[in-house]
Amino acid sequence: MNNNTRENFGSKLGAVLAAAGSAVGLGNIWRFPIETGQNGGAAFIIIYVACVFLLGIPIMMSEFFIGRHTQTNTAGAYRKLAPGTPWKWVGRLGVLSGFIILSYYSVVAGWTAEYTRLAIGNCFDGKSAADFPTIFSAFVSNPWKSVLWMVAFMLITHVIVVRGVKSGIEKFSKVMMPALFVILVVLAVCSIMLPGASRGIEFLLKPDFSKISGAVVLNAMGQAFFSLSLGLGCLCTYASYFRSDTNIGKTALNVALIDTFVAIMSGFIIFPAVFNAGYAISSNDIGPSLLFITLPSVFQQAFGSIPMLSYGVSVLFYFLLVVAALTSTISMHEVVTAYVSEEFNMPRRKAATIVTIACSVVGVFCALSFGPFADFKLFGMNLFDLFDYVASNIFLPVGGMFISIFTGWYLDKKLIRDEITNNGTLRVPYLRFVIFILRYFAPIAIAIILLNQLGLFSWF
Ligand code: PFF
Repeated sequence: MNNNTRENFGSKLGAVLAAAGSAVGLGNIWRFPIETGQNGGAAFIIIYVACVFLLGIPIMMSEFFIGRHTQTNTAGAYRKLAPGTPWKWVGRLGVLSGFIILSYYSVVAGWTAEYTRLAIGNCFDGKSAADFPTIFSAFVSNPWKSVLWMVAFMLITHVIVVRGVKSGIEKFSKVMMPALFVILVVLAVCSIMLPGASRGIEFLLKPDFSKISGAVVLNAMGQAFFSLSLGLGCLCTYASYFRSDTNIGKTALNVALIDTFVAIMSGFIIFPAVFNAGYAISSNDIGPSLLFITLPSVFQQAFGSIPMLSYGVSVLFYFLLVVAALTSTISMHEVVTAYVSEEFNMPRRKAATIVTIACSVVGVFCALSFGPFADFKLFGMNLFDLFDYVASNIFLPVGGMFISIFTGWYLDKKLIRDEITNNGTLRVPYLRFVIFILRYFAPIAIAIILLNQLGLFSWF
């Protein structure tokens, strides 16, 4: 595909909603509340927000201007900016990360679809807390169900990606993101009105600084990365469809604000209900158990006095997860599809089909790692956990670190200034600060996260 036929997002709002759709996902509604619950409530949120602003927004701006300047997929972007150098491997690593994350993320996304079906069928009604672990383990260990839902989710993603940037990704984001905000606010209001909700709210808003440690700071940074979809060129690929008048700084700020808003609102849905039902977020809630074992039970207990309410809350909540997951899987699929299509000179539909088939095959192994392949372990982890670990804890931080080094040290500062100011037409007073962060703070901070996660360095 040459640049003349390349599509663009039709509007600035469409571009913001598509990028926000990528950022808002299971990471916000599932990982963020757990991290908050285990790391000192509001104290964690303060550090997380600092990471979003000090690290997330500058790196997001880098991804945006690399993508918009080069108007090509993430691997092609580095080749164009640094021809004949190994920098193209940063883009390729991003494509590989997108492929791996899409393969296992679609498995959990499929689970959210099955739980939406169960909620619509009123299958949680009358169940006790002890029933939910059994329901979940019966589902995930059933090879057919898990695989079929994963494939179904991949196919829906495929259909939207094949329709293209404007009539697929942008159109879908413009309908689904507002729907997501409405559902989020309705659920948060229902939860806040529960008796005893104030304890949940206090937990979210009253910082317990005694829980803060080096490890907590590192978790907050890792969460900010995953949640903002940074480090794999996803936002770089989306930015390659931005129009030339898109304000990069403002778009990055909007995406970060929307993503943080959704994460905090998820806390307002989950904590008042969890406290009302007398649960405590525990270390068992790591992984899928919060979403698929604790919460269905919490919703029954907290809203059970009005049966229609517990039904409505459960249906809306799982549907919210489906929508959030789908806007994220679309963005990961697009990273790989754009790469295959442009680097191997293939029509978009054919490239998307190859990506869908390849990711589904790998996804089958991830889905089965909770059933028939549960005993197949590498480095003590099943395939699903291994992929999650390698992609989120290693590939994303490595990608983010190289992106900041690339922009902070390799690229010409004039090019950066021209891109961010739209050739001098925008005033961007914080530009020097952003460049400072990209040169010094981001690479060092990310190197610390990485070494810590690999266990090569312990900071406290
Ligand atoms: N940001 C998504 C979430 O919070 O669930 C996850 C994600 C999407 C990560 C897209 C990476 C990516 F490229």
